[in-house]
Amino acid sequence: MKDTKIIELLNEMTIDEKIGQMVQVAGDIFLSDNIDVSTGPLKNLELSNEMLYNVGSVLNIIGAERVRKVQDEYLSKNRLKIPLLFMDDIINGYKIAFPIPIAQGCSWNTEVIKTIARISAVESNIAGANVNFSPMVDLSRDARWGRVMESVGGEDPLLGAIYARATVEAYQGKDISKLGNVASCVKHIAAYGAVEGGRDYNTVDMSEREFRQYYLPAYKSAIEANAELIMTSFNILNGIPATVNKALIQNLIRKELNFKGLIISDYGAIEETIAHGVSKDEKEAALKAIEAGVDIDMMSKIYANFLKELCLENKEIENKVNESVLRILKLKNRLGLFENPYGNSDVKKEKIYLMNEQNLKKAKELTQETFVLLKNKNNILPFNKNKNIALIGPYIDNIAITGSWCMFSDKSKCTTILDAFKKKVDNEKLFYAKGSEILRQDEINSILKADGLPTINIKNESEEEERLIEEAKDIAKKSDVILLALGEHYKQSGEACSRSNISLPENQIRLINELNKLHIPMVMILFNGRPLQLNNIEDKLDGILEVWFPGTMGAEAITEMILGEVNPSGKLTMSFPQNVGQCPIYYNHYNTGRPHIDDLRYVSRYQDIPTESFYPFGFGLSYCNFKYKSLKLDKKEIKKNDIITATLEIENQSNNEGYEVIQLYIQDLYASVVRPVKELKEFKKVYFKPNETKIVEFKINVEMLKFWNENLHYKAEEGDFKVFIGSDSVNTLEDTFVYYD
Ligand code: GLC
Repeated sequence: MKDTKIIELLNEMTIDEKIGQMVQVAGDIFLSDNIDVSTGPLKNLELSNEMLYNVGSVLNIIGAERVRKVQDEYLSKNRLKIPLLFMDDIINGYKIAFPIPIAQGCSWNTEVIKTIARISAVESNIAGANVNFSPMVDLSRDARWGRVMESVGGEDPLLGAIYARATVEAYQGKDISKLGNVASCVKHIAAYGAVEGGRDYNTVDMSEREFRQYYLPAYKSAIEANAELIMTSFNILNGIPATVNKALIQNLIRKELNFKGLIISDYGAIEETIAHGVSKDEKEAALKAIEAGVDIDMMSKIYANFLKELCLENKEIENKVNESVLRILKLKNRLGLFENPYGNSDVKKEKIYLMNEQNLKKAKELTQETFVLLKNKNNILPFNKNKNIALIGPYIDNIAITGSWCMFSDKSKCTTILDAFKKKVDNEKLFYAKGSEILRQDEINSILKADGLPTINIKNESEEEERLIEEAKDIAKKSDVILLALGEHYKQSGEACSRSNISLPENQIRLINELNKLHIPMVMILFNGRPLQLNNIEDKLDGILEVWFPGTMGAEAITEMILGEVNPSGKLTMSFPQNVGQCPIYYNHYNTGRPHIDDLRYVSRYQDIPTESFYPFGFGLSYCNFKYKSLKLDKKEIKKNDIITATLEIENQSNNEGYEVIQLYIQDLYASVVRPVKELKEFKKVYFKPNETKIVEFKINVEMLKFWNENLHYKAEEGDFKVFIGSDSVNTLEDTFVYYD
């Protein structure tokens, strides 16, 4: 429809119809089956029927048939036949569950991010999704926060920015109305990953410089990639809830970043400004949100019940409503919904495309790039197929490995590690025991209760625990090597899953300790959505493979890697702390005036643990052995437009082929404000044949030296710089150069 027609439509609308467009409800309200896919506190919004058939969009209704049914039901009663928008949480895939976003980021390969986003977009678009609430690009430094699992860039602003752009472009393509494209909603703006104490929904307070240096780049990159929507976050930012924060939304997002798209609140966040204590009542919550510029009120009744009164009192508010509704109608128009309210939903195409073999095969390859090999003592991995292998742990015969945001995934193609091994190894040589539950019943029951779900009851739990351990020890004694599959419960990771203890559960640690007494080589596959504390078990393990929550093809992907059919290449995007007391910990920290260089007392350190992380940002091993040597800079001084070429030699000292992620970091040794000890500026994922040596080249330019200075200008300052190039943020070769203004 021409934009002129949109204006005419807007002029035809009553104030109730306009306000309706600014309300989003859970779409199952239109369906008698009322399947609840709520992702927040369950709410009955008590909207009038008239308002209900004027709402502008629905949340988490997907499936071509369901979408068409809801659209038909809605349009049958909507006076002007303005189609609903369907917005969904396709966080790591729709029917095919891909690795959780933190895992995807560990691939250090934008092609992995793009391909996952493309397949997810096509699957969800033919199932009726118009908008995808993704990417989540909140910089995340605190493993206590359950939502680090969604943070595709982890603790690094550059990774976050690169992955944000890649995801938005892969979702939206050139035209969001075309088959397989969805509008992207980048979230959560802003700085949600900095919640105090890692406690979800908590307070965020930081300097503008800290925000601009670390938290803003990924959001900015998504907006520059033309993300159609942004979602405001639950947290306050510097004293004002993000959702009603004019400085954030109006001054930064709208004016400075020139964002023209839609702004949607997070689930009930407008109403929550009352609990925050900045809105004295629901009417003021509506006023503050519309004045801040929120276009859509997700799952609260604030706009529905109070915007009309505010419009009648103040023409200016009605003008803002008109601006919001125009943005909403234009998005629907760009999606082609006025011509075809069903969008690209197609029941026949669903049957052909969803979960197709080609995409499943691709998913397995992509998944393998997200795994991070953390330990491989004496090259215990890959396993020799002729050995007797004990498969032990609650994740060996378990398909609950898709993570907490895969509400829609089809588990029919999920296999288990046990079954995957049975297909690959002589079954005479395989021995399986569960070894332990994931959690003890008091732990899982507190989680189930919080979700309003029935609790479990294991009779004689401690005897059962002993039995499982003895059974595991018995089969281990028949084996040459033990493969453990342990980790977090998927309901311990994701939204509202902050934890004050990030160690493996006690029952799993007991299993490790008991098996350790047998002195049989042991490898652990780790399932988790956050960096965990491993310093209390690492010395008992000969190998550790971090697989996060790997999704539909996880078991096959893991099995092939353990058996050496594919070589690990992933690198951590979040530092693993020594223990929870070290959170938040991140590589790009400041030096302080008393850096910890030795164990003298008066330096910045903890008395009771090492100061460095347990596993550093950028860390990941391979079945290859990469040797870095002869770093050279072609010049040691640069001015404004100069470029330094850094070259180094990397030798694969192994008979295996594989990829290495070579990382370039820079340190500004002296500036008008403190600068981090190092910052990632570039990386390359390079393939090596067995025993191959390659010369790898990086270009260093002045843009890499810029930062937010004491006057909040983004500039480089002349002075001395250090270059680090290596296999992670710690193991690097170094050199220096000088920059002159
Ligand atoms: C949730 C999450 C947000 C999600 C939204 C819709 O509370 O914070 O990431 O997209 O609600 O489910």
